[in-house]
Amino acid sequence: MTKDLFDKCAAYTRHIEAHEMGLYPYFIPLSSSTGPEVIVKGKKMIMAGSNNYLGLTQHPYVNEQARKAIEKYGTGCTGSRFLNGTIDLHEELENKLAKFVKKEKCLVFSTGFQTNLGTISALAGKNDIILCDRQNHASIIDGCRLSFGEIAKYKHNDTEDLERVLTKIQDKPDVDGLLLVTDGVFSMTGTIVDLPEIVKLKKKYKFRIMLDDAHGVGVIGKTGRGTTEHFNAWESIDLIMGTFSKTFASLGGFVAGPSVVMDYIQHNARSLIFSAAMPPSAVATVKACLEVMEKDASLVQKLHETAKYMIKGYKQLGFETGNTETAIIPIILGEMELVLRFWKLLFEEGVYVNPILSPAVPEDMCLLRTSYMATHKKEHLDSILQKFEKVGKKLGVI
Ligand SMILES: Cc1ncc(COP(=O)(O)O)c(C=O)c1O
Repeated sequence: MTKDLFDKCAAYTRHIEAHEMGLYPYFIPLSSSTGPEVIVKGKKMIMAGSNNYLGLTQHPYVNEQARKAIEKYGTGCTGSRFLNGTIDLHEELENKLAKFVKKEKCLVFSTGFQTNLGTISALAGKNDIILCDRQNHASIIDGCRLSFGEIAKYKHNDTEDLERVLTKIQDKPDVDGLLLVTDGVFSMTGTIVDLPEIVKLKKKYKFRIMLDDAHGVGVIGKTGRGTTEHFNAWESIDLIMGTFSKTFASLGGFVAGPSVVMDYIQHNARSLIFSAAMPPSAVATVKACLEVMEKDASLVQKLHETAKYMIKGYKQLGFETGNTETAIIPIILGEMELVLRFWKLLFEEGVYVNPILSPAVPEDMCLLRTSYMATHKKEHLDSILQKFEKVGKKLGVI
């Protein structure tokens, strides 16, 4: 006798219990756009948990370009890039992005998640090995799982452990190529990858590097070109991947690298070939965001100042913020229940942040993920710190 497939769904009650305790923090609808202030259930709140790093979702020029694209091309492409879904705007964006990240060619996908799935699974074949940081984003992990390659994980941002893994690989028979994939800025903690050490190992052990810079582009580097710019490592990074769901104020993803590799991915990445293309308004949005960034680096610089101000502010209050240097600032609290209680009190105080629990972070490192926009004003920032101080004292954290 088989069981009913749906039995596990009825037995899954964690979300119901959390609701009953008034501690369910997910899928909360906003009824406004995502700016420094948002409306939730009719109440104005300060947003300290968005990835709208440069605040471009509300930029007048960006919004205007999106509207114009709808007028010219309509609302959707109704086909994959491979067949009838490519418009000239896709190609214009790809050319612009390739230049922006100093690579020969770029491909845009419908989401960042699909970019990682498609790129990694197309590149890593049967006798290839993927070197993967243990705290890489879920889309990288799933891309590795989808590929026919072997996955070799190393401890988070730990290049000694990476070298241990690489040494072991040297003894293995029948290994073809090696691909190292890592977040540039780790999405939950804001930690920047130790790229200089990875590059040293690359020279010694000969592997290719793919950098997922979803939280790096627009956030770090003097002109917002991300982790590669931050370390001036343009020559050493083979493939740069990014998403349009954060700095670029839209939805979609890209990967850029040598033409010959991009041509291969273009004809082998299943998530590109068998999924509909980014809609025109999204493509125009990203293109307009790039234009804004290229014209004026002041938004990026403002974000850098904001990040510094908030890291210092939290540290002075006595919060544990890990080793972030970016606009993602984790408030590490430890156990899950404390995080949820802290989150709820902050929410009641009118500050929106994201509780991050295991398995997204190790069980004893549950945290509140705070993140900032170039459009936050000093009043917003001070108010966030003040509410953190109030709740932190109430719960005995500081
Ligand atoms: C590091 C990283 N990679 C990839 C993605 C996926 O991007 P998208 O939202 O475009 O699917 C995200 C988004 O959360 C991310 O944080």
